[in-house]
Amino acid sequence: MLLTYLGHAGFMLEAGGATVLIDPWVTGNPVATTTADALHADTILLSHAHNDHGIDDALAISKRTGATIITTFELGEWLATQGVTTVPANPGGTVPFNGGSVKFTPAWHSSSYDTGAGTVVAAGIAAGLVIRFGGLKIYHTGDTALFRDMEFVGEEQIDLMCVCIGDHFTMGPVDATRAVGFVHPKTVIPMHYNTFPPIVQDGDAFKERVEAAVQGVRCYPLKPGQTHRFGE
Ligand code: NI
Ligand code: MN
Repeated sequence: MLLTYLGHAGFMLEAGGATVLIDPWVTGNPVATTTADALHADTILLSHAHNDHGIDDALAISKRTGATIITTFELGEWLATQGVTTVPANPGGTVPFNGGSVKFTPAWHSSSYDTGAGTVVAAGIAAGLVIRFGGLKIYHTGDTALFRDMEFVGEEQIDLMCVCIGDHFTMGPVDATRAVGFVHPKTVIPMHYNTFPPIVQDGDAFKERVEAAVQGVRCYPLKPGQTHRFGE
């Protein structure tokens, strides 16, 4: 499976001719290396409605390519009114898609949509994602605080964990390291940092910290635009 880091909490996964985008925020993202016009997908997964997770880009990509957007219930219901194909779901539920499946998990975070006209609309709850794709099980934490029930996700034998480390809006590096200890994946990719000033962190320092604290884990701090092969 090929994984490309889009910057912030955004990823592109490619395997077996299928493409999945996760939280694909590129328009207005100061660290983005691509544009929404250049992205295509069969499936788009959104963890919550905050504008830094690519709701507007997901809409544009879905309208252009026909990609199905799978997300939390209220956000999915609203997206359906915008003329795209959506599958609204909720934590605990698994949704199949072309080449894999996603199960939504709890995340301690809010979920609202800023219309850009001074109106912030509540949009249900935020979630994490447990994704089966390309022969791997991937846990994208979404935006979240640390919570011990991440251990339940760890019981599912996670290959790859995408963990937020930016602090301020989510876990910082210390709590993220504890989260990795709860989940005990084979590999970790830090995310949701170095996009704007309140969430500046040192990815290499996180790698050192987490590899020292959690036995056997390998950490890959990817640069936006960088692609890495995981699994087959
Ligand atoms: Ni958020
Ligand atoms: Mn965010």
